[in-house]
Order: sequence, then C-alpha cells, then structure tokens
Amino acid sequence: EQSIAQVVSDHLRDIPDFPEPGVAFKDFTPLLSDGAALAAVVRDIADRYRGRVDHIVGIEARGFILGAAVAYELGIGFVPVRKAGKLPGETLGVEYDLEYGSAHIEVHADAFVAGAHVLVIDDVLATGGTAEATCTLLERAGAEVVAFEAVIELGFLEGRAKLAGREVHTILTV
Ligand code: PRP
Ligand code: MG
Repeated sequence: EQSIAQVVSDHLRDIPDFPEPGVAFKDFTPLLSDGAALAAVVRDIADRYRGRVDHIVGIEARGFILGAAVAYELGIGFVPVRKAGKLPGETLGVEYDLEYGSAHIEVHADAFVAGAHVLVIDDVLATGGTAEATCTLLERAGAEVVAFEAVIELGFLEGRAKLAGREVHTILTV
C-alpha cells in the first residue's frame, strides 16, 4: 500500500522556467488526470475534516478543483475566493504582497452565517501569503477557519510561519 504522499509525488512534474526563468513549477495536472490518484487525494483530505466543517473554501484557481471535489465528498457546500472583480455580488476583499507586486482577492460578503466552520483548500503552500490573506478575509466575513490544507508545500519558502497558530496540513513537502 502506497502512502498518499507517494501517490502525490508520483503524479507531479517539474516544469522548468515557469512562470518565469529560474522557477521550477510543480505541476499537479498529472494527479488531476488520474482518476484513482485524484480520488485517493480527495478522500484523504475529506477524512481529516469529516464532521468538523460546514463549508469548503477554494482559492482560485486550482483550489477550486480540489475544493469542490472535497466538498462533494463531504456532502457540504463550496465557497470560492476569487481574484478581484470576478464575483458578481457584494464582496469583501483583501490585498496582500507577493514576491513581486501585490494581489487582491475577494469573497462574497454574505457567503457565511456568523461562526460557520470552514476548511480552506489550495494546491500549493508557497510563501503563505495567499493562504494567510484568505484566512484573514474569511474571518472578516464571519467564518471560523478550522484549517488550511494544500496538496504541496514548498518547505524552503517557510509559508507555514505566516500561518502560525492555525491548523495547517499539507500532503507532500518538497
Ligand atoms: C499559486 C498557488 C497558490 C499560491 C501560493 O497561485 O496556486 O494559490 O500561488 O503562493 P503563496 O503561498 O506564495 O501565496 P497563483 O497566485 O499563481 O494563481 P493561480 O492559482 O490562479 O494560478
Ligand atoms: Mg493559486
């Protein structure tokens, strides 16, 4: 029986010089395209939070794919956190620093009843900027963030430090 980390590792590929020269991009599309591997990852994540959360929050864009699948597996709803200007209703937003420049993400202001328990899902934990900004935004929107979950963690970027005090779980650290 293979560990789930091994399953992820076996279905990742490095794309050199993407999105810019010198960066080796961790591409998880081979994991998405393999039905058995995708199901194993979705079940692994879902089993950690069964009975503990009311909604899954997925971070655009790859967090949508996993997040919706985990929500379906748990029989609960899905809430998107999107890049600025994409959500049609009234939104709350947060701006945060990237390695170069800044980003702006939003959630619908009425997405949660006060105190709703949520699990935040993304594909990769890198510097932790996106994850931390998302958690802060969700709390402003009235949610209680139970945990942050990503499939891949770039350990050398120490994104976990930015999420100190929060429950964080990742399947494979590279
Ligand atoms: C990537 C990745 C995470 C984020 C992690 O998304 O999918 O969301 O970066 O980086 P951080 O921990 O340093 O914040 P990206 O911003 O490239 O957008 P995308 O998912 O829409 O492609
Ligand atoms: Mg992303």
